[in-house]
Amino acid sequence: MSLRDRAVLLTGCTGDIGAAYLDAMTSAGANVVAVDLDDGTELAARASERGPGKAVFQRCDITDDSDVHSAVRAAVERFGGLDAVVNNAAVYRGLGRKRPLEELTLEDWDTVLRVNVRGTWQVIRGALPALRRRGGGRIVNVSSATARMGTAGFAHYVASKAAVEGLTRAAARELGKDGITVNAVSPGLVDDGATRALNDPGYVAAAAGARSLPRDMRPDDLVGALLWLIGPDSGFVSGQTVIVDGGGVFA
Ligand SMILES: NC(=O)c1ccc[n+]([C@@H]2O[C@H](COP(=O)([O-])OP(=O)(O)OC[C@H]3O[C@@H](n4cnc5c(N)ncnc54)[C@H](O)[C@@H]3O)[C@@H](O)[C@H]2O)c1
Repeated sequence: MSLRDRAVLLTGCTGDIGAAYLDAMTSAGANVVAVDLDDGTELAARASERGPGKAVFQRCDITDDSDVHSAVRAAVERFGGLDAVVNNAAVYRGLGRKRPLEELTLEDWDTVLRVNVRGTWQVIRGALPALRRRGGGRIVNVSSATARMGTAGFAHYVASKAAVEGLTRAAARELGKDGITVNAVSPGLVDDGATRALNDPGYVAAAAGARSLPRDMRPDDLVGALLWLIGPDSGFVSGQTVIVDGGGVFA
């Protein structure tokens, strides 16, 4: 699918899923402003070299409005505008070990909700003027199949991803009149660095075995849905959550 000359803002670019998204989008011709708290300069340089799209890295805390505005400004100055936003950043790797909900602290709860929900809203809000100037656009928020499974041990994270899906629907209702579609991708448990840091190998293998397609899920399994949702062929799809998990949970 060609995304040639489309300008995209991608958050959370240095995790394994964000890096796969970055590669897939530049390979399809998109120009990407890739942001994260961690340094993604090398990742962006490598994606640009492979092309045909270009990528630039900018450090950005999605909960900081001035960082978000700088990232949007970078897209406008470097690539002439903004066509799509991929809200992939979240506290995931940083969750630490699974804990019963009564052991979560107020700080745990607030941190996860602040980044995963408020940060996603802040990026949408910050990007809107640039998307509207283009006469429309695409927003894709990354949820998680945990929102439906209710995975034990991560109550704050599960609640945050359910909220991301609600925000997706509310934003779709409000922004459709501006020609902006808003959808979510909901991945199952990906066998990536973050997941391996959070779960023992037996848990990841059990999740793989429970799928309709019983194998490990890789970051690359997620790119097809993303490219479709930010591309030209999904223009009449909005407010939806696409679950990509090899047929583990059903909507
Ligand atoms: N890996 C999985 O199995 C899985 C499953 C379902 C959903 N997801 C979702 O996919 C997305 C990517 O996951 P991942 O596996 O690459 O996890 P990850 O933790 O490796 O990546 C998340 C990225 O977000 C960045 N980030 C965190 N807070 C930020 C902030 N305030 N501002 C900017 N960036 C910030 C982190 O630095 C990190 O690079 C997340 O939204 C995650 O919730 C992952």
